[in-house]
Amino acid sequence: MLLKQSVVDAINKQVVEEFTASLQYIAIALHFDSETLPELSKFFQAQGMEEHGHAMKLLQYLNDAGEKALVPATKEVKNHFETAAEAVELALNQELKVTDQINSLVDLAVKENDHLTRQFLQWFVAEQLEEVASMSDLLNVVKRAGEANLLLVEDYLARNPRADAGGGEAEA
Ligand SMILES: [Fe+2]
Ligand SMILES: [Fe+2]
Repeated sequence: MLLKQSVVDAINKQVVEEFTASLQYIAIALHFDSETLPELSKFFQAQGMEEHGHAMKLLQYLNDAGEKALVPATKEVKNHFETAAEAVELALNQELKVTDQINSLVDLAVKENDHLTRQFLQWFVAEQLEEVASMSDLLNVVKRAGEANLLLVEDYLARNPRADAGGGEAEA
């Protein structure tokens, strides 16, 4: 066996978080679509696809290591938002939470002397910096524009290639 059971269990638990994050972003994308804010919707759709990719990457790692990858049920997601800032703030908090979870996974890999997993997780460590940075940029822009001027946010997303969803993703 390449991996310890504690590591396998922790990775399977993280898969739940990544799939849940994916669905949460899709819920936010649909909210913005219903508000006729297509750039914001597109941004969150792409984030949703990215999170799906993160879950798949973790599952593939378990399969490659000869372990049992489990496709989980996901947690509840929030579907109703009063303001754009509320939705983006939720997204930023989610990214900060996932960053903590990835750090804990790395801690566990180090504790278990599992250098294979520690190495594998470095991609996620770098990815979280991108994700937190792009989401906190977006929250700044949303707050600066204000709820009455969300078309300025649309303009920002249409013009700014880094903010364009997926643009800041770490190389696989
Ligand atoms: Fe993720
Ligand atoms: Fe993320």
